[in-house]
Amino acid sequence: MGKTMDQGSGPQHVAIIMDGNGRWATQRGRPRLFGHHAGAKRVREIVEACPDAGVKYLTIFAFSTENWKRTQVEVAGLMGLFRRYIFKEMQSFVKENVRVRFIGDRPGLDDKLRALMDEAEDLTSNCTGTNLTIALNYGGRDEVARATKRLARDVRDGKLDPESVDEETLPRYLDTRVLPDPDLVIRTSGEARISNFLLWQSAYAEYEFVDTLWPDFSPAEFARLVGQYGGRDRRFGGVKT
Ligand code: IPE
Ligand code: IPE
Ligand code: MG
Repeated sequence: MGKTMDQGSGPQHVAIIMDGNGRWATQRGRPRLFGHHAGAKRVREIVEACPDAGVKYLTIFAFSTENWKRTQVEVAGLMGLFRRYIFKEMQSFVKENVRVRFIGDRPGLDDKLRALMDEAEDLTSNCTGTNLTIALNYGGRDEVARATKRLARDVRDGKLDPESVDEETLPRYLDTRVLPDPDLVIRTSGEARISNFLLWQSAYAEYEFVDTLWPDFSPAEFARLVGQYGGRDRRFGGVKT
């Protein structure tokens, strides 16, 4: 799928860089993992807010390919949190008709977590409501590099003519191949950078940077940002007519 051209209406696909868990915990004199737990609780509320907000696709950045640089304690804590979260939430996603997908480099994750990710994807594969995509061990550059490797193999195996490669080719090799491009990317915690998130896909996305730390991000703020988007004029390089 490609760009979303329906101007004037709400965003079909919202992507969120959920940032600020560590600072939220530090402000309370608690360990960073306390903030990650508080942040995980917020996800459900935002997923539940999607149907009313008219958001069909929600993609959330949970762990980047660069986050391995953190302490062993934090990384191990996060991996444990992801395992427990997926195990605990997958039945409720089925009940709420939420289709779960994961993007990112899976071979870099441990077997147990990968098995849970597969299970959640299988279990929700017939769900037709909100499409929730969780970016786990995800990096935009890493994704493009992995896509290029697969594309090069297809050329080598005679399945793809290099002369036919254009802008529509690479997206078919990205982890996001079944998703539309994000219309709106939100980042919490006051940082105005994209930190390697959905680089190719966000070429024409609108951005909202808010100061709220992720554990304080509410469905009301989500609805406000989604509503605000409706008033924007997306020109995709053209001229307003
Ligand atoms: C975002 O919160 C969650 C992850 C990156 C896993 P942070 O942990 O980056 O929180 P801050 O930015 O240090 O406050
Ligand atoms: C981006 O946040 C990654 C996630 C939200 C998972 P970071 O906190 O890792 O990004 P930087 O380090 O501020 O760029
Ligand atoms: Mg951060």
